[in-house]
Amino acid sequence: MVNWNEINETAIGWVREAGETIRASFSKTLSIETKSNPNDLVTNIDQETEQFFISKIQSAYPEHKILGEEGFGDKLSSLEGIVWIIDPIDGTMNFVHQQRNFAISIGIYENGVGKIGLIYDVVHDELYHAAEGQGAYMDGVKMPVLDEVKVEEAIIALNATWVIENRRIDHNKLIPLVKKVRGTRSYGTAALEFAYVASGRLDAYLTMRLAPWDVAAGLVLLKEVGGVATTVDGKEINLLEKSSYFVGEKNLHTAVVKDYLQS
Ligand code: IPD
Ligand code: CA
Ligand code: CA
Ligand code: CA
Repeated sequence: MVNWNEINETAIGWVREAGETIRASFSKTLSIETKSNPNDLVTNIDQETEQFFISKIQSAYPEHKILGEEGFGDKLSSLEGIVWIIDPIDGTMNFVHQQRNFAISIGIYENGVGKIGLIYDVVHDELYHAAEGQGAYMDGVKMPVLDEVKVEEAIIALNATWVIENRRIDHNKLIPLVKKVRGTRSYGTAALEFAYVASGRLDAYLTMRLAPWDVAAGLVLLKEVGGVATTVDGKEINLLEKSSYFVGEKNLHTAVVKDYLQS
């Protein structure tokens, strides 16, 4: 039998330890490189944090598999077994430019089912945490199931990129939505945007391309508070593939997909 409580406690300890190391790095010089394009940044801290988690997991749980953004983990073609899906720093651009608005994100899955989700806002020392069937918590306080929200009263997170002409969505669909909602926000960290939806700070989050490590923890949190996640046209998510995401409170999600995104 897998002892999920023990894995949970251990993972939380490692996340806090990694957070402390990241905070200590603020006074040191960062080494910054680019990946797929000049705005796709990675630092030595992203890489060292991922390597920290991998060495901890491999020595405590050698049979578990690891999928990490920076590529130090395993090459996976399925989610069979126990898989840790790790984004060592979600919001690297914010980490580099702002030294805030970034998070460590870890989702632990068993045969494709989300068991544990941890999102740690390192600068605010806020830990969002969920375990399957046991609810979602922010710093140990249980977060309530999300209340129904009307479109005109909703705050939706989305990046301005998607509301101007782009190759991933017909931006004309989004203009009426942006006009209708109470407000829009963009934080530049998918993991925290999921955590904010789960905690009711945001009502929904729409984005056109996320990877498994951006969402693995957030999906576990969201499920525990009754939130819904699909592609922007309302289709089921395949966690292992890059995908668009529309996540939010259930009624709001249904209304927005039907009236704005699918039409
Ligand atoms: C990015 C952030 C950003 C989102 C990008 C992600 P990273 O993650 O979550 O908000 O818009 O699609 O790649 O690269 O900073 O871990
Ligand atoms: Ca990245
Ligand atoms: Ca990310
Ligand atoms: Ca990252």
